[in-house]
Amino acid sequence: MLKLNCKTADSSVIGEEHGLNLELEFNNYAEKVADIIKNLNQRKDKPGERLQWMNLGYNEETVWYVKEFASLVEGRFDNILVLGIGGSALGGLAVTEALLKPYWNFLTKEQRNNLPRIFFLDNIDPDSINGILDILDLKKTLVNVITKSGDTAETMSQYMIIKDRMEKELGDDYRKNIVATTDKKMGILRQLADQEGYKIFYVPDDVGGRFSVFSSVGLVPFALVGLDIDQLINGIKDIDLELKNTDIHQNIAAQCALIQYLMDKKGKNISVMMPYSSRLKYIADWYAQLWAESLGKGVNRNGENVSAGQTPVKALGATDQHSQIQLYNEGPNDKIITFIRVGDFDTTLEIPRIFEYTGIGYLGGKTINDLINAEADSTRVSLTDYHKPTITITIDKINEYNIAQLLYMFEVETAIAGELYNVNAFDQPGVEQAKDYTYALMGRAGYEGSADTLRQKMEIV
Ligand code: PA5
Repeated sequence: MLKLNCKTADSSVIGEEHGLNLELEFNNYAEKVADIIKNLNQRKDKPGERLQWMNLGYNEETVWYVKEFASLVEGRFDNILVLGIGGSALGGLAVTEALLKPYWNFLTKEQRNNLPRIFFLDNIDPDSINGILDILDLKKTLVNVITKSGDTAETMSQYMIIKDRMEKELGDDYRKNIVATTDKKMGILRQLADQEGYKIFYVPDDVGGRFSVFSSVGLVPFALVGLDIDQLINGIKDIDLELKNTDIHQNIAAQCALIQYLMDKKGKNISVMMPYSSRLKYIADWYAQLWAESLGKGVNRNGENVSAGQTPVKALGATDQHSQIQLYNEGPNDKIITFIRVGDFDTTLEIPRIFEYTGIGYLGGKTINDLINAEADSTRVSLTDYHKPTITITIDKINEYNIAQLLYMFEVETAIAGELYNVNAFDQPGVEQAKDYTYALMGRAGYEGSADTLRQKMEIV
């Protein structure tokens, strides 16, 4: 269950200069938003629209295959090593960090109920790749290489290093320790996986990386570490019905999208995501990619230059109260902050009454749970005093059902925001240029021309 409190973005609370008259705006945009929601739902099954992520709550076949695979390999591996980057890694990281017991990889096998540890290698830092290879026993490691395109340089270079090591250590058996998640038809990984005889899962057509967390991209690693993927899917199914509601007054994704969009128009071009829970920290990373890559666009659907998009910023409560809140309170009023608040934490931790000093004695007898939520409330109120807009999303508990609802709600919010901005939220032309330059620098055939241009430019910059 998600609850949205957006009063702190309202002009009646933070003043007209920085707040929105939400009632008026919801009414003004009611028809437009209803059309957007209707239209997204009408387009979702059309090939090429890249809206198949809206159907991932109904993909029973994939769920069945993923569960079958997880039960087949149960007990065989001590480690899952996920190779992927961007949309092929961030969702997995965000969900496992949120749902597995904290410090999962440090727990004993018994404490993990015999389930494997999980590592995400989502960068190409040589030290960390060597570091992970130093600690993992490859014989007891299942590698899930995830790349929709099948040729992403970062992921495929990791794969090449690890496959080579595995083959040397395991002989022909290494094939049983690799599972590929990739496109059904295209890409080099698809071909390789076929030749090598790896188990393959497919990223469905028309599901972009940053919207793929509930496809096999996320479901395979989730099932392997024992997360309840049925509950994840139930969470999506239930909230999907709510988010199909065309009445903005009943649809929190539409409300959040409109608030962000109108705040951006009011000069709040920074969107801060600040969960008050360490377990939800990587949800802010996942959101940052979703919001940035989907809405940061040069041209709109009419071909006009728009340079659209808010800059997402990741923050963590209460930690960043001691780092960023000074700026949020007193700095430029150019942000809208989304707090994620947890109703009930899994555990309770009481602060013992061991000191009577006035400065800390008051803490004794309270719980850390009370303290973190008191800090979330006081930060919200103090930002309100400074006329800074915020919204708060509360989840009653951190569990599969609620985390799926939260992430899916952000996906729908992003899609609706894309339509409000009138941009294509599902492409990413702006990342291609740097990719091409990298291919050129690394000597990929077909990029020789760009390599010459690039070398000249590098002398200047
Ligand atoms: O959201 C996206 O589409 C990107 O972030 C991709 O997920 C990322 O570039 C990785 O691509 P691929 O899965 O093709 O390796």
